[in-house]
Amino acid sequence: MSLEERVNITTGTGNEQGPCEGNTAAAGNLFPALCLNDGPTGLRRAYNTSQFVAGINAAASWDRELTRQRGAEMGREFRAKGVNVILGPGMNMMRTPRAGRNWEFAGEDPYLTGEIAYETVVGLQSSGMITTSKHLIGNEQDTNRYNSSTNMDDKTLHELYLHPFVRALDAETTGIMCSYNMVNGTYACEDDYILNSVLKGELGFKGFVVSDWWATHSTAFAVNSGLDMTMPGDANSQSITGGGLWFGKNLTDAVKNGDVDEDRVTDMATRIVAAWYKVGQDKGFPELNFNYFDSNVGADLDVQGDSKDNIRKQGAASVVLLRNDDDILPLGQDDKVKKIAVIGSDAGADPEGLNQCQDGACSRGTLTQGWGSGSAYLPYLVTPLDGIKDRAGDSVDVVSYLDDWNVDEAAKVASDADIAMVFAKSDSGEMYIVVDDNPGDRNNISLWYNGDELIKAVADANKNTVVVIHSVGPILMPWIDHPNIKAIVWPGLPGQETGNSLADVLFGEVNPSGKLPYTIAKKFDDYLGDIVMELDIEYTEGVNVGYRHFDKYDIEPLYEFGYGLSYTTFDYSGLKVKVSGKGKDAKVTASLKVENTGDVDGADVVQAYLGFPEDAEQPPKMLRGFEKVNIKHGKKQDVKFEFSERDLRVWDTAKQEWVVPSGTFTLYIGASSRDIRLEDTFTL
Ligand SMILES: *[C@@H]1O[C@H](CO)[C@@H](O)[C@H](O)[C@H]1NC(C)=O
Ligand SMILES: *[C@@H]1O[C@H](CO)[C@@H](O)[C@H](O)[C@H]1NC(C)=O
Ligand SMILES: *[C@@H]1O[C@H](CO)[C@@H](O)[C@H](O)[C@H]1NC(C)=O
Ligand SMILES: *[C@@H]1O[C@H](CO)[C@@H](O)[C@H](O)[C@H]1NC(C)=O
Ligand SMILES: *[C@@H]1O[C@H](CO)[C@@H](O)[C@H](O)[C@H]1NC(C)=O
Ligand SMILES: *[C@@H]1O[C@H](CO)[C@@H](O)[C@H](O)[C@H]1NC(C)=O
Repeated sequence: MSLEERVNITTGTGNEQGPCEGNTAAAGNLFPALCLNDGPTGLRRAYNTSQFVAGINAAASWDRELTRQRGAEMGREFRAKGVNVILGPGMNMMRTPRAGRNWEFAGEDPYLTGEIAYETVVGLQSSGMITTSKHLIGNEQDTNRYNSSTNMDDKTLHELYLHPFVRALDAETTGIMCSYNMVNGTYACEDDYILNSVLKGELGFKGFVVSDWWATHSTAFAVNSGLDMTMPGDANSQSITGGGLWFGKNLTDAVKNGDVDEDRVTDMATRIVAAWYKVGQDKGFPELNFNYFDSNVGADLDVQGDSKDNIRKQGAASVVLLRNDDDILPLGQDDKVKKIAVIGSDAGADPEGLNQCQDGACSRGTLTQGWGSGSAYLPYLVTPLDGIKDRAGDSVDVVSYLDDWNVDEAAKVASDADIAMVFAKSDSGEMYIVVDDNPGDRNNISLWYNGDELIKAVADANKNTVVVIHSVGPILMPWIDHPNIKAIVWPGLPGQETGNSLADVLFGEVNPSGKLPYTIAKKFDDYLGDIVMELDIEYTEGVNVGYRHFDKYDIEPLYEFGYGLSYTTFDYSGLKVKVSGKGKDAKVTASLKVENTGDVDGADVVQAYLGFPEDAEQPPKMLRGFEKVNIKHGKKQDVKFEFSERDLRVWDTAKQEWVVPSGTFTLYIGASSRDIRLEDTFTL
């Protein structure tokens, strides 16, 4: 290829110049223009495609198989629409619960986030998608994302924020997207240390690095620092972020005047072309067939296929049951429930219709996703009210009142029902749209639209109150001690099948097995941090994010990381730990038996946390393994864990290498980060 052709492969041709968010330029007849599109919840702004469970729900399911299947179905839909590159998956961390895009990611723990990232990339690429795992790195809030600097030390970078990317690389992710923000004062998309030394050097990444939209700030400097593709390549948008059109002719000129080596351009183009071959886009790739400017233009081919089965299954698998007093759930165990009241706008449809707000930026009906570039249209919606009615059948009277503000009327409707279900929500999104005064990041972590008052009114009126929360992350629960609130159900953001997946759990068709991928604190101040308003965002807590912070300072959470109830009970026994090898070759294996001691079949998530030798100065415990096991009631199953160098090491900043500390480790086996059932020590 000529230099100009090679440069074209790396260069965007402008923002949204067709159905795709971005395109690369074609290289003559040798290589096609690629279509890049958001995003992690489904194909953005496309009809006849699915809205999957959000990333945070994939995490709450702790289910590797369903997560891989979610990726595979999503990838199949993207490809069938003619999209080459998915702008995802997202793997930033929930450092503060207010961060607007938390819902797209996988919570507060790097290990869990890494497993979800791994399975998602494998799934997407198995369907022939080029993935761009994002956003590298330190993009943990939306406020000031274009002009702030995330400052973290090297240990924190390696042990925490980089880990999910390492797992994406294990899955052979074809691309990595660098983030808007600076790291230590250097823009992430022109950071030689992050891109060249760490990503391409230390981690051996062979794919391409693409900028977030307008996150490129230079030509030769960015290219020499490791950026391989610029997006969207839009000369007119420099005012937005400082990023404009930097490649194209400017890059060709930079080669001609010696600022960039021609070999480097060959390397950039090779990385992109290699990705295209790797996932098999050289054969039988479909034509583009979606157009969000006008749904009647072009063929809005229906590509949903069987995705809805995955969405319903993972929706149910990610319902976290927080409370179930008097075993009030599941419903339908006997004939006593003759009347169910369903209360709150979050149980119904948006009265204005589906997909009426830009990029999901409103919450008038039930909340199925957050807002922003990570959103996807709903092809249809099964509301919670529909799902409950459908499942309850004709012998049960289901009444509803979907206004959040008239609490007297809500209480009246709830008062004579056998069960009152009250729904409430909390939303968040990306910074380019403001919803109810929330600039992407949430203003508070309280319920929206009078939710607390509505819940109190219903609970005052009915002694069998079931609270259902659709939320992007943790919320405060001022009504938590109300004696009439018998159950709290946490379905997160379940996508288009929300009503069916919820009803599956409420009526016991599916035994709940979701676990919290984040800590729910008793009060906001218990969290380690908040959105930072200064332009220097200091990660001074280091690796003590999420439950590690609560453990370190011995703060009792309301509901801890990893928590979630089941309709059955599990008993853990017989933990055996074996050590072999030494130093970097050390391997630790552990086995135990898990017994389903209740009356119904169910799935449990057995969690393995490691405590490091004291000298290593690590958090009290860190998740290093989990297994989701389906066990029939009365049956036992063996569960095995294996910990290798990856799990046992710490980053030595002075030596710039990983070391396995010697001393005594503790293995904690639990049903949550605080419900530790078995423990043992081993010495390395
Ligand atoms: C490079 O891309 C530009 C913009 O799409 C196009 O006009 C030009 O013909 C391309 N050059 C080559 C050599 O393919
Ligand atoms: C940083 O960017 C935000 C918009 O994202 C802007 O409101 C703010 O003024 C900027 N701050 C500085 C110091 O430039
Ligand atoms: C950021 O700067 C600090 C202070 O110079 C340094 O210790 C640290 O290693 C840097 N972190 C990264 C990720 O480069
Ligand atoms: C080159 O970059 C400058 C910004 O420095 C921009 O104004 C110009 O449009 C770019 N031109 C081309 C052809 O890429
Ligand atoms: C979705 O697909 C169906 C069946 O192919 C078609 O009739 C319909 O027009 C499509 N919907 C849109 C919005 O394009
Ligand atoms: C929190 O924010 C929501 C959404 O803007 C708002 O409805 C609610 O009143 C706020 N709650 C508190 C306690 O400020």
